[in-house]
Parts: sequence; C-alpha cells; structure tokens
Amino acid sequence: MGNFTKIIIFSILIVLAYPLYVKFGIPKLNPSPPPVEAEIGANMTMDQFIALGKKIFDEKGTCTLCHNSLGRAPMLNNQHSVALDRLKDPRYKGGAKTAEEYLHESMIKTSAFVVAGFGVKGSNDTQSPMPDVSTGAIGLNPAEIDAVIAYMMTKDGGKTTLTVPTAVPAAGAEEKKPAAPAKTGAEVVKKYGCGGCHVIAGEAGALGPDLSKIGSKGKDYLRQAVVDPDAVVAKGFDKGMMPTDYKDKMTAGELEMLVDLMAKSK
Ligand code: HEC
Ligand code: HEC
Repeated sequence: MGNFTKIIIFSILIVLAYPLYVKFGIPKLNPSPPPVEAEIGANMTMDQFIALGKKIFDEKGTCTLCHNSLGRAPMLNNQHSVALDRLKDPRYKGGAKTAEEYLHESMIKTSAFVVAGFGVKGSNDTQSPMPDVSTGAIGLNPAEIDAVIAYMMTKDGGKTTLTVPTAVPAAGAEEKKPAAPAKTGAEVVKKYGCGGCHVIAGEAGALGPDLSKIGSKGKDYLRQAVVDPDAVVAKGFDKGMMPTDYKDKMTAGELEMLVDLMAKSK
C-alpha cells in the first residue's frame, strides 16, 4: 500500500471517528438546550438565553476558532470559578469586581489580564492575542456578549448572575442580508478577521504566521493558503487553526484583492 493510500485511509478513519469524539469526548450541555431560534425576544427563558450564548460562542463569535483543543488559547472550562480565581491573582490589574465583570472584561479589554503562557510572543504575558469581540469582524452587541457570558458561566455547572434582557436581538440577525463585497484588499482583511491571527494590513494578530513579508511566496501559493489552508501548513504552526471555509464565503473578487495585497507585502 502506498503512503498516499495510507494517508487517505487514515483521514477517512479520523472523519468517521469524529462524531464519536463529539458524542463521548466532549461534555454536553445538560439538559440539552431548547431550540434557539424559536422564541427569541421578550419572553425568553434563562435556558434559551444560555442556548443562544452557546450558538454565538460556536458560530458568530468564532470563539472556538481559538478556544479549542489545539492549545493556542485556554479551554474556557469552569469559567465561573476560574474568573473568581483571576480576581485574586496578584497579576490581575483590571477593573472587575465580580466573575461576570471579569468575563465581560476578558472579551472586550483582552489585555486587562493575560492567562500565563498565552500572551503575544515577547510581551511577557502583558498583551493578549485575542481581539476585542465587540468590534471588528466579530462585532458582538452587548446582549450577545451577555448571552455568551451566561453560557460560559453555566456550561460546566456554575451559576450565572445575569438576568435575561427584555429584548434580545436574534443571533446573527444582521448577517441575514449578506454583507456587501469588500472594495479593497484591506477591507477584505477586516471583513474576514485575518488580523485577529496575522500581522497583515496594519493589524497585528499573533496566532498565525506574520504575513508582512509573505509576498515572495507567489500568488498561487497565497491563493491556496486561503482557500485550502491545510494543503500546506506553515512551519512551526498547527494544522486546523486557520478557518477552512473562506472558499465558501469570499467572492472571487475579494480573494484576488486579498492575494494582491499579500503578494505586494515584501
Ligand atoms: C483569535 C483567537 C481568539 C478568539 C477568536 C477568541 N479568543 Fe478568547 N482568548 C484567546 C487567547 C489567546 C486567550 C488567552 C490570553 C488572554 O488571557 O487574553 C483568551 C482568553 C479568553 C478569556 C479569559 C480566560 C481566563 O481563563 O481568564 C475569556 C473569558 C475568553 N478568551 C473568551 C472568549 C470568547 C467568549 C470568545 C468569542 C466571543 C473568544 N474568547 C474569542 C484567543 C481568542
Ligand atoms: C484563527 C486564526 C486565523 C485566522 C482568522 C486566519 N488565519 Fe491564516 N493562518 C493561521 C495559522 C495558525 C496558519 C499556519 C498554519 C497553516 O498554514 O495552516 C495560517 C496560515 C496562513 C497563510 C500561510 C502562511 C505561510 O507562511 O505559509 C496565509 C497566506 C494565511 N494564513 C492568510 C490568511 C488570510 C488572508 C486570512 C483572512 C482571510 C487568514 N489567514 C485568517 C491562522 C489564522
């Protein structure tokens, strides 16, 4: 059997095993959340609010892009008690007084406390690589942020101190009308949040390779790196970290503007 065949068989096994992992390997929210879309609005129950938070956490918030088992960001388990510990940490210099306030601050002033070992390289854990999730490409509104906090506090059996707001905008309601295509390479970078992970177009993400001098690799390489990130994995970085769905989301024009921008970065 050739190596290639072995790799293919191995990949298929991994794909087949994944649902089992999801079923048995990942702790489930218990009891399972009610359907989310159904009754968003004034009469929402706390369970629905928390389920909405989970949906935002997994989808619009893109939290699981970084907070996953690859180890580039902490796993966010037991966040109610972890948050209380952070407040007592001698390195904590932020303004939060309660667990809820700590989690809120973690999402919008991400450098107020940087979990040891996860800071931007060379910053001695004073600068967080996590973007402010209330702005930029993620852009969660205050109610969405609260829903995510309620989810983080309760998902491992903790209590939430939040109350359900009287009117919650449906998660991703604004996304229903497709965003207008970007007009420049820099706009494409903003729209798709590349700067959350890369040094690119004036942004300074630190979770992926620095792209400020990537131009020499040539346009074909760069195009492939965006549409099929796992095809070539940059040295020193893990496969699976960069999102693989840009090929479905980007217009052809956006992709070319982005490739042009990177090709000129030398
Ligand atoms: C681009 C990667 C990235 C994204 C996206 C991201 N985070 Fe983070 N986050 C990190 C890293 C790295 C840390 C550790 C450094 C720090 O403490 O800021 C962190 C820290 C945190 C902490 C503090 C944890 C602790 O133990 O004190 C919380 C809470 C958190 N993130 C929540 C979120 C939520 C909620 C989202 C989605 C709305 C999110 N993050 C999206 C990378 C990310
Ligand atoms: C959640 C973090 C994350 C986001 C968001 C992200 N990337 Fe990446 N990217 C990575 C990581 C990690 C690697 C290295 C592993 C790999 O090559 O797959 C990478 C690799 C690359 C490479 C190859 C670099 C090299 O040295 O070979 C390019 C080019 C690239 N990304 C461009 C982009 C562009 C453009 C966007 C936005 C449309 C983007 N990335 C969004 C994390 C991210």
